[in-house]
Amino acid sequence: MTSSSFKFKCFQYFFIIIFMLHVYAATSILSSSPDNSSFNNFLEIAKSPEVFDWMVSIRRKIHENPELGYEEFDTSERIRSELDKMGIPYKHPVAITGVIGFIGTGLPPFVALRADMDALPIQEMVEWEHKSKVAGKMHACGHDAHATMLLGAAKILKHHEKEIQGTVVLVFQPAEEGSGGARKIVESGVLQNVTAIFGLHIAPELPVGEVASRSGPILAGGGRFEAKISGKGGHAAIPHHSIDPILAASNGIISLQQLVSREADPLDTQVVTVAKFQGGSTFNVIPDYVTIGGTYRAFSKQSFDQLRLRIEQIIVGQAAVHRCNATVDFLDEVKPSYPPTVNDGDLHEHFVNVAVSMLGINNVKSAMTPAMTSEDFAFYQEVIPGYFFILGVKNASHKRFQPSLHSPYLQINEDGLPYGAALHASLASSYLLKHHHHVHGV
Ligand SMILES: *[C@@H]1O[C@H](CO)[C@@H](O)[C@H](O)[C@H]1NC(C)=O
Ligand SMILES: *[C@@H]1O[C@H](CO)[C@@H](O)[C@H](O)[C@H]1NC(C)=O
Ligand SMILES: *[C@@H]1O[C@H](CO)[C@@H](O)[C@H](O)[C@H]1NC(C)=O
Ligand SMILES: *[C@@H]1O[C@H](CO)[C@@H](O)[C@H](O)[C@H]1NC(C)=O
Ligand SMILES: [Zn+2]
Ligand SMILES: [Zn+2]
Repeated sequence: MTSSSFKFKCFQYFFIIIFMLHVYAATSILSSSPDNSSFNNFLEIAKSPEVFDWMVSIRRKIHENPELGYEEFDTSERIRSELDKMGIPYKHPVAITGVIGFIGTGLPPFVALRADMDALPIQEMVEWEHKSKVAGKMHACGHDAHATMLLGAAKILKHHEKEIQGTVVLVFQPAEEGSGGARKIVESGVLQNVTAIFGLHIAPELPVGEVASRSGPILAGGGRFEAKISGKGGHAAIPHHSIDPILAASNGIISLQQLVSREADPLDTQVVTVAKFQGGSTFNVIPDYVTIGGTYRAFSKQSFDQLRLRIEQIIVGQAAVHRCNATVDFLDEVKPSYPPTVNDGDLHEHFVNVAVSMLGINNVKSAMTPAMTSEDFAFYQEVIPGYFFILGVKNASHKRFQPSLHSPYLQINEDGLPYGAALHASLASSYLLKHHHHVHGV
């Protein structure tokens, strides 16, 4: 060993020691930091009988008493009473029945977690102890579970409130199913300073303990249209004395099929479906008018707006070809169209990190195939970077027939509840941990 090499070795050891000191120092900071020490047992806490049994009982009570959009008065009250018991302050009413809770310092950064509360006008067909007690209404989209899991997250976060580096905003929103409750929440201004929002949806086809999502567009934008095509009724045996709206509407419907097949980029998935055709009431009378209605879907605002424009032009144009008049209504006031649900790329990375460390890499499907259904979560994403994912609630004993969302036979596996609660809590707390420096730096 030459002296120069000895010097070099000393030098090296010196650095290794410095490096190790550095690591130990970093470790002690890390282990005192909530990310490592206490934040990573959220799933365990959520599965503990104290939290789990409580969530199950809340979910069942909400399930038994389903309420439609903007009528979630009892659900809202139940949520507020649970927040009261936990000592969590909230704003109410926001968007009629909405409740906005706050956990943490009350200071920036603000991160939001969203759950919807409304049920569907469906008669539950599942015979079980906690079947819906309201005829013709059912939590067939799992929003009972969503609200419950957000309460679960609230409980966990409240317990760790001192470690939260900012504020978690709990969003219990009304009217996801068609009426765009999210838009009303956004318009209320309560989310003004929120820099990220997370939301989830239960997935009956995905096993408990698994999640799926993707970066970018995940759900389509969805809109409705209704058209009235007016002609002139008369005897069906004397067609030349009438102006036939049935034929005009039929040609309109045929032409609408060419929107997707001829005008849309084949790589840009879109749907136009006419699902309603009403006209005439007997075999020998040409009716005065026909109404048709349907839905259109696309993954970008541009494609969505283009479809909307062309649907109107085609229906009106084809009516004119057949000497009829047509008006097209996009039902903006009653049933606003939902924009595409587009996941933020940075939040995708955050989600994958959190979910993989909680569930293991095999249980996180991070390149999910997008779906043509819509979500009003998209309204948040229009103003705040947002992230939406799906959470497994599959009952493993249902081997073949897996009732889908909106099925009167939907049954969810309540073992999935702790996963949603823990993911919510973890996504928010670790987001704040990552971002609070930026705020202090300003
Ligand atoms: C958390 O701390 C433990 C030791 O206390 C360590 O083994 C683990 O790697 C740490 N995890 C993270 C994500 O820092
Ligand atoms: C957002 O922050 C601004 C500036 O601090 C404040 O004036 C405003 O009240 C905040 N809005 C909400 C909804 O908290
Ligand atoms: C269509 O509208 C025009 C202008 O209002 C009217 O003159 C015509 O009679 C209408 N045609 C039918 C078939 O309703
Ligand atoms: C799964 O489904 C079976 C049969 O319908 C039911 O008995 C069981 O309670 C369900 N399990 C869970 C955890 O929901
Ligand atoms: Zn739904
Ligand atoms: Zn839903």
